[in-house]
Amino acid sequence: MSTMPTTMHLPQDASRLPMTLPRLLEKRELGEPIVMVTAYDYPSARAADRAGVDLVLMGDSGAMTVLGYDSTVAVTLDELLVLARATRRGLQTPFLVGDLPFGSYEVSDEQAVITAFRFVKEAGCDAVKLEGGGETSVRRARAIVNAGIPVMGHVGLTPQTATALGGYKAQGKNAGAAAKIAREALALQEAGCFSIVFEAIPSAVTEAIMPRMGIPVIGIGAGPATDGQVLVFHDLLGIREGRGAKFVQRYADLLDDMAGGVAAYADDVRTRRYPGPEHGYAMDVAELAAFRDELNHSIAVEGAPV
Ligand code: KIV
Repeated sequence: MSTMPTTMHLPQDASRLPMTLPRLLEKRELGEPIVMVTAYDYPSARAADRAGVDLVLMGDSGAMTVLGYDSTVAVTLDELLVLARATRRGLQTPFLVGDLPFGSYEVSDEQAVITAFRFVKEAGCDAVKLEGGGETSVRRARAIVNAGIPVMGHVGLTPQTATALGGYKAQGKNAGAAAKIAREALALQEAGCFSIVFEAIPSAVTEAIMPRMGIPVIGIGAGPATDGQVLVFHDLLGIREGRGAKFVQRYADLLDDMAGGVAAYADDVRTRRYPGPEHGYAMDVAELAAFRDELNHSIAVEGAPV
């Protein structure tokens, strides 16, 4: 006789099981493309969850996409923690990665570990991401991993240090620069990162590095050879002005739809089409008469005739 409780619901589809690090590695080994998307609040997290993505990155790109900064440099840890908590509340199955903001991990291993703990304990993130594969970033990644928190690396175009990289442009376009990216990726892997983002590097460079990688590589503008892809939620759905980077594929134009919706509402209010009778609350006729009577006879309104 089965001992399984009758109320237990097993998921029909394994993709609806919570994503874990072993499942992520398994996907890579099976050659199943890994899907990551950014999210920064409850509705974007719900959309990502319902779409069944594997990983959600609460990226520091939220500084620009939802907070309106002109780069990711100024956003504070506390601001990103608010966004991470809202994102967490919207997710059931995807694995949530919180992005450490500029200035929150570079100073010391201790600072990096304390920041990473805040993402895990205060926002419920499953892992954190940090940018760069130089000596400092590798050391910080190792310290966070040693503290028990999974770390995602990020090489190529690293927006937090875009000024030092010469702006928001593709990296690794000559042999020396490509070799530097390869060395950084391998160092992050050796430091214990569970995954790495390759951003804005030539597809051929990615292809050449991939055989050396034993962890899932998630690309954004790094060609098709990676184990998975990530796009910024607002870029792929067109919740922004302008087209964005060359690698962005747009699947909707929601900012146009949003502006159109608000304009239609404004027009309805100005022309008194909204609200209609169907939007109002009804009241018992006798109660209304009693209320009118009370209003006229016993409720004194300052400055108005009683
Ligand atoms: O913050 C972000 O959105 C990112 C992705 C572009 C990888 O770091």
